[in-house]
Amino acid sequence: MTDAADRQLAAQYEAYPYPARDPREESRRLIVGSPSHLREIDHWIFGSRRPATTPLRALVAGGGTGDGTIMLAQQMAWAGRPGSVTWLDRSGAAKGIAEARAAARKLDNIRFAEGSLLELAGSGLGPFDYIDCCGVLHHLPDPLAGLRSLVSVLAPGGGLGLMVYAPHGRTGVYMLQDALRLLAPAEEAPAARVDAARRLWRQVPETAWLKRNPWLTDHVSGGDAGLYDLLLNPRDVAFSVPALDALVRAAGLRIACWVEPVRYDPDVYLPDPKLRARTAGLDPVQRAALAEAITGNMGIHIVYCVRAGDPVAEQPWTDPEAVPVLREMDGPTLAKGLPKDGTLPCSFDGLRVSLPLPRLANAILQRVDGRRSFGAIADELAANSVPREQVWRELPALRRSMEAMNRLLIAAPRA
Ligand SMILES: C[S@@+](CC[C@H](N)C(=O)[O-])C[C@H]1O[C@@H](n2cnc3c(N)ncnc32)[C@H](O)[C@@H]1O
Repeated sequence: MTDAADRQLAAQYEAYPYPARDPREESRRLIVGSPSHLREIDHWIFGSRRPATTPLRALVAGGGTGDGTIMLAQQMAWAGRPGSVTWLDRSGAAKGIAEARAAARKLDNIRFAEGSLLELAGSGLGPFDYIDCCGVLHHLPDPLAGLRSLVSVLAPGGGLGLMVYAPHGRTGVYMLQDALRLLAPAEEAPAARVDAARRLWRQVPETAWLKRNPWLTDHVSGGDAGLYDLLLNPRDVAFSVPALDALVRAAGLRIACWVEPVRYDPDVYLPDPKLRARTAGLDPVQRAALAEAITGNMGIHIVYCVRAGDPVAEQPWTDPEAVPVLREMDGPTLAKGLPKDGTLPCSFDGLRVSLPLPRLANAILQRVDGRRSFGAIADELAANSVPREQVWRELPALRRSMEAMNRLLIAAPRA
């Protein structure tokens, strides 16, 4: 199903493939993030139980210029993980850039398919163990139809990583979108609309909410593609926590993880015991909705989803054989930088929180290298006169803070 807005959307991503990327920069850095970081897929979708030797068939639906595709394929290649990543998008211009990025990295585990994610059923693509759909569903004429189309090619036991816009952190965006619909209607040529948007941004009064929202920068630093995507997009719909949960449920799925989990825990912001007594009575979605409402700064939601009927994947935090890993952090460096007061300070889009850490946090974290198991770490500490029972006793507290930040995860088992 397409409509005029969808045809304009297709033209937009042909004129301004998103996000703006230069394949030459692949030699300098790998862009990493959520969803679809390999460690997150292992942990949040497969509960750190799916062996690393089992091939992973991944789809990146609406892959754009390739951020998620390149990250996942590169991480699989570096780790010697079997499988492949299928990039799917209907923008030929985006495909050219994503292909050039893959070539610059000499990745041979990516397949490129040009087409609509709404036509996956019967396309011959799939099934897939993991499906990424980042920043796409909220642009579709019918997001639920899009999500159902993805689920139609999801293998049994598989899962999805989604990103959709959220309302509060985008404060100011929809007002200026309204303004630009009046000033530069969608029927105009893309370049003329970009010009009008740039002029408007220079002159917009200081009271415009987007001027007061420093956490959105695409219109300032994202080039023409970023400006167009933020302010001139023919359709984008923001999903609150309850709206996203309802969408996911309607597709027969459930949310296994909100990223980062700590942001969606209202108790992190509400130490008052009387308020805590009230939050204790809320279900998980209500708790996440409360966190969204009181923080006011969430501009996107990232979730990992699995089929509603699939068993809840319990990560093996009590298994001596399980191997903890840090995301983009080196254990010794992290441990060295920890404050002495037993807390871990962190900041999310201007929101500062301080998470409690157990006494052994430093000693444990400095041994986390993606190879040592929990058992091996406990053995090493025991050799330094730290009772093993204390390590096992303190691990849940370390988990409560570090897993909730989406930083300390458990690796896929080797066999
Ligand atoms: C905002 S971009 C996101 C790109 C990428 N996922 C990322 O996060 O960097 C949205 C992408 O969705 C693609 N898209 C929109 N509707 C689509 C459809 N029906 N089928 C396939 N791709 C679609 C667009 O072409 C565009 O590349």
